[in-house]
Amino acid sequence: MRFLSIEKVIPGTKLAKPIYGAHGLVLVRENFELTDGIICRLKELGYPGVYIEDEISEDIVFNDVINDKIRLETAFRLEEMLRNNESLDKITPFVSEIVECIIENQDVVINLNKLCGHHEYTFIHSVNVGILSVCIGVKMDYNRKELIELGTSGILHDIGKKYVSLEILDKEEKLTKEEFDEILKHPENGYAMLSDCYDISSTSKVGVLQHHERFDGSGYPRGLKGKKISTFGRILAVTDTYDAMTSDRCYRKAFEPSEALEYLLGAGSIRYDYNMVNNFTKCIAVYPVGTCVTLSDGTEGIVMHNYSDCILRPVVRIIQNKQIIDLKNDSSYLNVCITGVI
Ligand SMILES: [Fe+2]
Repeated sequence: MRFLSIEKVIPGTKLAKPIYGAHGLVLVRENFELTDGIICRLKELGYPGVYIEDEISEDIVFNDVINDKIRLETAFRLEEMLRNNESLDKITPFVSEIVECIIENQDVVINLNKLCGHHEYTFIHSVNVGILSVCIGVKMDYNRKELIELGTSGILHDIGKKYVSLEILDKEEKLTKEEFDEILKHPENGYAMLSDCYDISSTSKVGVLQHHERFDGSGYPRGLKGKKISTFGRILAVTDTYDAMTSDRCYRKAFEPSEALEYLLGAGSIRYDYNMVNNFTKCIAVYPVGTCVTLSDGTEGIVMHNYSDCILRPVVRIIQNKQIIDLKNDSSYLNVCITGVI
Protein backbone atom coordinates (compact mmCIF):
# COMPACT_ATOMS: atom_id res chain seq x y z
CA MET A 1 0.00 0.00 0.00
CA ARG A 2 1.02 3.61 -0.41
CA PHE A 3 -0.25 7.03 0.55
CA LEU A 4 -1.61 9.14 -2.27
CA SER A 5 -2.45 12.83 -1.99
CA ILE A 6 -6.19 13.42 -2.45
CA GLU A 7 -5.36 15.68 -5.42
CA LYS A 8 -3.89 12.68 -7.26
CA VAL A 9 -6.60 10.16 -6.49
CA ILE A 10 -8.67 9.19 -9.53
CA PRO A 11 -12.00 7.33 -9.74
CA GLY A 12 -11.49 3.56 -9.52
CA THR A 13 -8.58 3.83 -7.06
CA LYS A 14 -8.76 0.95 -4.56
CA LEU A 15 -8.54 1.81 -0.84
CA ALA A 16 -5.94 -0.08 1.21
CA LYS A 17 -7.27 1.17 4.54
CA PRO A 18 -10.74 2.29 5.60
CA ILE A 19 -11.48 6.00 5.82
CA TYR A 20 -12.93 7.08 9.15
CA GLY A 21 -15.35 9.93 9.75
CA ALA A 22 -16.54 11.68 12.88
CA HIS A 23 -16.66 9.54 16.04
CA GLY A 24 -14.48 6.86 14.47
CA LEU A 25 -17.20 5.49 12.20
CA VAL A 26 -16.09 3.93 8.94
CA LEU A 27 -16.92 6.34 6.14
CA VAL A 28 -15.53 4.26 3.26
CA ARG A 29 -14.48 0.65 3.71
CA GLU A 30 -11.18 -1.04 2.80
CA ASN A 31 -10.91 -2.34 -0.81
CA PHE A 32 -13.63 0.05 -1.97
CA GLU A 33 -13.02 1.58 -5.39
CA LEU A 34 -13.41 5.33 -5.01
CA THR A 35 -15.91 7.24 -7.15
CA ASP A 36 -15.72 10.83 -8.36
CA GLY A 37 -18.41 11.87 -5.84
CA ILE A 38 -16.60 10.37 -2.85
CA ILE A 39 -13.26 11.91 -3.89
CA CYS A 40 -14.92 15.36 -4.09
CA ARG A 41 -16.53 14.88 -0.67
CA LEU A 42 -13.21 13.83 0.91
CA LYS A 43 -11.61 16.99 -0.52
CA GLU A 44 -14.41 19.12 0.97
CA LEU A 45 -13.95 17.47 4.36
CA GLY A 46 -10.22 18.23 4.33
CA TYR A 47 -8.80 14.71 4.00
CA PRO A 48 -5.20 15.19 2.80
CA GLY A 49 -4.98 11.80 1.08
CA VAL A 50 -5.77 8.09 1.29
CA TYR A 51 -3.90 4.80 1.45
CA ILE A 52 -4.30 2.95 -1.81
CA GLU A 53 -3.45 -0.49 -3.12
CA ASP A 54 -1.86 -0.78 -6.56
CA GLU A 55 0.58 -2.99 -8.40
CA ILE A 56 3.73 -1.00 -7.53
CA SER A 57 2.92 -1.00 -3.79
CA GLU A 58 1.03 -4.27 -3.27
CA ASP A 59 3.77 -5.92 -1.16
CA ILE A 60 4.46 -2.82 0.93
CA VAL A 61 3.03 -3.20 4.42
CA PHE A 62 3.64 -1.22 7.54
CA ASN A 63 3.23 -1.50 11.26
CA ASP A 64 0.88 1.21 12.51
CA VAL A 65 2.09 0.77 16.14
CA ILE A 66 -1.20 2.36 17.24
CA ASN A 67 -3.99 1.45 14.88
CA ASP A 68 -6.43 4.05 13.60
CA LYS A 69 -9.32 2.56 15.56
CA ILE A 70 -7.62 3.00 18.96
CA ARG A 71 -6.66 6.58 18.10
CA LEU A 72 -10.17 7.48 17.00
CA GLU A 73 -11.87 5.74 19.92
CA THR A 74 -9.62 7.57 22.38
CA ALA A 75 -10.29 10.90 20.66
CA PHE A 76 -14.04 10.26 20.64
CA ARG A 77 -14.05 9.25 24.31
CA LEU A 78 -12.10 12.39 25.25
CA GLU A 79 -14.58 14.56 23.39
CA GLU A 80 -17.49 12.77 25.09
CA MET A 81 -15.94 13.18 28.55
CA LEU A 82 -15.48 16.91 28.03
CA ARG A 83 -18.96 17.34 26.57
CA ASN A 84 -20.63 15.51 29.46
CA ASN A 85 -18.39 16.98 32.18
CA GLU A 86 -17.26 13.48 33.19
CA SER A 87 -14.22 12.95 35.39
CA LEU A 88 -11.18 13.07 33.13
CA ASP A 89 -9.36 10.24 34.91
CA LYS A 90 -11.60 7.90 32.89
CA ILE A 91 -9.09 8.39 30.08
CA THR A 92 -6.56 6.14 31.89
CA PRO A 93 -7.60 2.76 30.35
CA PHE A 94 -7.19 4.28 26.87
CA VAL A 95 -3.76 5.64 27.78
CA SER A 96 -2.75 2.23 29.18
CA GLU A 97 -3.70 0.54 25.91
CA ILE A 98 -1.65 3.06 23.94
CA VAL A 99 1.34 2.60 26.26
CA GLU A 100 1.22 -1.21 25.84
CA CYS A 101 1.15 -0.89 22.03
CA ILE A 102 4.17 1.43 22.08
CA ILE A 103 6.16 -0.75 24.52
CA GLU A 104 5.49 -3.80 22.31
CA ASN A 105 6.72 -1.94 19.21
CA GLN A 106 9.43 0.23 20.67
CA ASP A 107 11.88 -0.47 17.84
CA VAL A 108 9.40 0.73 15.22
CA VAL A 109 9.47 4.39 14.24
CA ILE A 110 6.00 5.81 14.51
CA ASN A 111 3.86 7.09 11.66
CA LEU A 112 0.78 8.98 12.71
CA ASN A 113 -1.05 9.16 9.41
CA LYS A 114 -3.55 11.94 9.05
CA LEU A 115 -6.76 10.02 9.33
CA CYS A 116 -9.45 12.65 9.40
CA GLY A 117 -10.71 15.93 8.07
CA HIS A 118 -10.49 19.42 9.60
CA HIS A 119 -13.39 19.06 11.99
CA GLU A 120 -11.97 16.22 14.02
CA TYR A 121 -8.64 18.02 14.46
CA THR A 122 -8.67 18.98 18.16
CA PHE A 123 -9.20 15.57 19.70
CA ILE A 124 -7.06 13.58 17.27
CA HIS A 125 -4.30 16.14 17.83
CA SER A 126 -4.57 15.58 21.60
CA VAL A 127 -4.28 11.81 21.17
CA ASN A 128 -1.32 12.22 18.81
CA VAL A 129 0.50 14.39 21.35
CA GLY A 130 -0.10 11.70 23.98
CA ILE A 131 1.25 8.97 21.67
CA LEU A 132 4.33 10.92 20.55
CA SER A 133 5.12 11.91 24.14
CA VAL A 134 4.98 8.27 25.27
CA CYS A 135 7.41 7.42 22.43
CA ILE A 136 9.87 9.97 23.85
CA GLY A 137 9.28 8.54 27.35
CA VAL A 138 10.23 5.06 26.09
CA LYS A 139 13.53 6.48 24.75
CA MET A 140 14.09 7.96 28.23
CA ASP A 141 13.57 4.52 29.83
CA TYR A 142 10.45 5.55 31.71
CA ASN A 143 8.61 2.73 33.46
CA ARG A 144 4.94 1.87 32.73
CA LYS A 145 3.56 4.12 35.46
CA GLU A 146 5.60 7.10 34.24
CA LEU A 147 4.60 6.40 30.63
CA ILE A 148 0.92 6.39 31.58
CA GLU A 149 1.37 9.68 33.44
CA LEU A 150 3.15 11.19 30.45
CA GLY A 151 0.55 9.90 27.96
CA THR A 152 -2.26 11.24 30.15
CA SER A 153 -0.60 14.65 30.27
CA GLY A 154 -0.22 14.64 26.48
CA ILE A 155 -3.79 13.58 25.76
CA LEU A 156 -5.21 16.14 28.18
CA HIS A 157 -2.81 18.98 27.32
CA ASP A 158 -5.37 21.15 25.52
CA ILE A 159 -8.53 20.43 27.56
CA GLY A 160 -8.53 24.07 28.69
CA LYS A 161 -9.56 24.98 25.13
CA LYS A 162 -13.02 23.84 26.16
CA TYR A 163 -13.53 27.42 27.30
CA VAL A 164 -12.31 29.00 24.05
CA SER A 165 -15.04 29.51 21.45
CA LEU A 166 -14.84 27.61 18.15
CA GLU A 167 -15.10 30.97 16.42
CA ILE A 168 -11.68 31.86 17.83
CA LEU A 169 -10.13 28.38 17.47
CA ASP A 170 -11.15 28.08 13.81
CA LYS A 171 -10.63 31.70 12.82
CA GLU A 172 -8.76 32.01 9.53
CA GLU A 173 -7.79 35.68 9.93
CA LYS A 174 -5.34 37.13 12.43
CA LEU A 175 -6.66 37.05 15.99
CA THR A 176 -7.37 40.30 17.84
CA LYS A 177 -5.52 40.91 21.11
CA GLU A 178 -8.64 40.00 23.12
CA GLU A 179 -9.07 36.77 21.17
CA PHE A 180 -5.42 35.85 21.62
CA ASP A 181 -5.70 36.55 25.35
CA GLU A 182 -8.53 33.99 25.46
CA ILE A 183 -6.26 31.35 23.90
CA LEU A 184 -3.44 32.14 26.33
CA LYS A 185 -5.64 31.08 29.24
CA HIS A 186 -6.04 27.46 28.14
CA PRO A 187 -3.06 25.90 29.98
CA GLU A 188 -4.21 27.37 33.31
CA ASN A 189 -7.83 26.50 32.63
CA GLY A 190 -6.81 22.94 31.80
CA TYR A 191 -4.78 22.69 35.00
CA ALA A 192 -7.76 23.97 37.02
CA MET A 193 -10.09 21.44 35.35
CA LEU A 194 -7.86 18.64 36.66
CA SER A 195 -7.69 19.91 40.24
CA ASP A 196 -10.24 17.41 41.56
CA CYS A 197 -9.07 14.46 39.44
CA TYR A 198 -7.26 12.67 42.27
CA ASP A 199 -6.22 9.70 40.11
CA ILE A 200 -4.24 11.94 37.79
CA SER A 201 -0.72 12.65 39.06
CA SER A 202 0.51 16.15 39.81
CA THR A 203 3.30 15.55 37.25
CA SER A 204 0.66 15.05 34.55
CA LYS A 205 -1.22 18.15 35.66
CA VAL A 206 1.93 20.28 35.61
CA GLY A 207 2.65 19.05 32.07
CA VAL A 208 -0.76 20.40 31.00
CA LEU A 209 -0.01 23.73 32.70
CA GLN A 210 3.44 24.08 31.12
CA HIS A 211 3.07 22.74 27.57
CA HIS A 212 3.38 26.27 26.10
CA GLU A 213 6.38 27.28 28.21
CA ARG A 214 9.51 27.60 26.07
CA PHE A 215 13.12 26.78 26.97
CA ASP A 216 14.27 30.41 26.48
CA GLY A 217 11.49 31.83 28.63
CA SER A 218 9.43 33.07 25.65
CA GLY A 219 6.41 30.87 26.42
CA TYR A 220 3.34 31.18 28.62
CA PRO A 221 1.64 31.30 31.14
CA ARG A 222 4.66 31.96 33.40
CA GLY A 223 7.58 32.52 31.01
CA LEU A 224 9.58 29.81 32.79
CA LYS A 225 13.10 29.07 31.50
CA GLY A 226 15.17 25.91 30.96
CA LYS A 227 14.93 23.19 33.61
CA LYS A 228 12.46 25.31 35.61
CA ILE A 229 9.97 23.85 33.13
CA SER A 230 9.06 20.30 34.20
CA THR A 231 10.29 17.38 32.09
CA PHE A 232 6.72 16.66 30.96
CA GLY A 233 6.30 20.32 29.97
CA ARG A 234 9.50 20.16 27.88
CA ILE A 235 8.43 16.90 26.20
CA LEU A 236 4.91 18.13 25.42
CA ALA A 237 6.29 21.36 23.93
CA VAL A 238 8.11 19.28 21.28
CA THR A 239 5.34 16.82 20.47
CA ASP A 240 2.59 19.46 20.46
CA THR A 241 4.58 21.65 18.06
CA TYR A 242 5.41 18.75 15.76
CA ASP A 243 1.86 17.42 15.49
CA ALA A 244 0.36 20.90 15.08
CA MET A 245 2.85 21.77 12.32
CA THR A 246 2.24 18.54 10.41
CA SER A 247 -1.56 18.93 10.48
CA ASP A 248 -3.69 20.82 7.97
CA ARG A 249 -5.45 23.73 9.68
CA CYS A 250 -8.27 25.88 8.40
CA TYR A 251 -5.80 28.80 8.05
CA ARG A 252 -2.81 26.95 6.52
CA LYS A 253 -1.68 23.69 4.91
CA ALA A 254 0.35 21.17 6.89
CA PHE A 255 4.13 21.30 6.83
CA GLU A 256 5.94 18.14 5.74
CA PRO A 257 7.29 16.04 8.65
CA SER A 258 10.84 16.79 7.45
CA GLU A 259 10.13 20.55 7.63
CA ALA A 260 8.67 20.30 11.14
CA LEU A 261 11.65 18.26 12.24
CA GLU A 262 14.07 20.77 10.75
CA TYR A 263 12.27 23.56 12.60
CA LEU A 264 12.52 21.67 15.90
CA LEU A 265 16.19 20.87 15.35
CA GLY A 266 16.86 24.54 14.57
CA ALA A 267 14.87 25.75 17.57
CA GLY A 268 16.29 23.03 19.86
CA SER A 269 18.35 24.61 22.70
CA ILE A 270 16.55 27.89 22.01
CA ARG A 271 12.83 27.32 22.35
CA TYR A 272 12.93 23.60 23.07
CA ASP A 273 15.05 21.32 25.22
CA TYR A 274 17.49 19.88 22.67
CA ASN A 275 17.63 16.53 24.52
CA MET A 276 13.90 16.12 24.03
CA VAL A 277 14.15 17.07 20.35
CA ASN A 278 16.99 14.58 19.98
CA ASN A 279 14.97 11.81 21.63
CA PHE A 280 12.04 12.69 19.39
CA THR A 281 14.10 12.28 16.22
CA LYS A 282 14.62 8.61 17.14
CA CYS A 283 10.87 7.95 17.37
CA ILE A 284 9.24 9.29 14.24
CA ALA A 285 9.15 8.33 10.60
CA VAL A 286 9.92 11.52 8.69
CA TYR A 287 9.09 9.66 5.49
CA PRO A 288 6.62 6.99 6.64
CA VAL A 289 6.42 3.65 4.82
CA GLY A 290 4.16 4.08 1.78
CA THR A 291 5.14 7.73 1.21
CA CYS A 292 5.88 8.67 -2.41
CA VAL A 293 9.04 10.77 -2.63
CA THR A 294 11.24 12.47 -5.21
CA LEU A 295 14.97 11.82 -5.12
CA SER A 296 17.79 14.21 -5.99
CA ASP A 297 18.69 12.12 -9.08
CA GLY A 298 15.26 12.91 -10.58
CA THR A 299 13.63 9.55 -9.90
CA GLU A 300 10.50 8.95 -7.83
CA GLY A 301 10.08 6.23 -5.26
CA ILE A 302 7.95 4.70 -2.52
CA VAL A 303 9.38 4.37 1.01
CA MET A 304 9.52 0.70 2.04
CA HIS A 305 11.39 0.69 5.34
CA ASN A 306 12.67 3.20 7.91
CA TYR A 307 15.76 3.08 10.13
CA SER A 308 15.29 4.60 13.59
CA ASP A 309 18.96 5.63 13.67
CA CYS A 310 18.88 7.26 10.22
CA ILE A 311 15.40 8.70 9.75
CA LEU A 312 16.16 10.76 6.65
CA ARG A 313 17.53 7.84 4.58
CA PRO A 314 15.00 5.00 4.29
CA VAL A 315 14.82 2.08 1.86
CA VAL A 316 13.00 3.20 -1.31
CA ARG A 317 11.51 1.40 -4.32
CA ILE A 318 11.98 3.38 -7.52
CA ILE A 319 8.63 3.70 -9.29
CA GLN A 320 10.09 3.83 -12.84
CA ASN A 321 12.00 0.50 -12.68
CA LYS A 322 10.99 -1.10 -9.33
CA GLN A 323 14.64 -1.10 -8.22
CA ILE A 324 15.07 -1.13 -4.44
CA ILE A 325 17.71 1.21 -3.02
CA ASP A 326 18.86 1.47 0.56
CA LEU A 327 19.78 5.11 1.14
CA LYS A 328 21.42 4.31 4.46
CA ASN A 329 23.56 1.31 3.52
CA ASP A 330 24.03 1.32 -0.26
CA SER A 331 27.31 3.18 -0.88
CA SER A 332 26.50 3.81 -4.54
CA TYR A 333 23.62 6.06 -3.46
CA LEU A 334 25.48 8.12 -0.84
CA ASN A 335 25.12 11.26 -2.95
CA VAL A 336 21.38 10.74 -3.51
CA CYS A 337 18.86 12.17 -1.05
CA ILE A 338 15.11 12.67 -0.75
CA THR A 339 14.15 16.13 -1.96
CA GLY A 340 10.39 16.12 -1.51
CA VAL A 341 7.13 14.30 -0.97
CA ILE A 342 4.85 13.79 -3.95
FE1 LIG B 1 -2.06 24.14 23.83
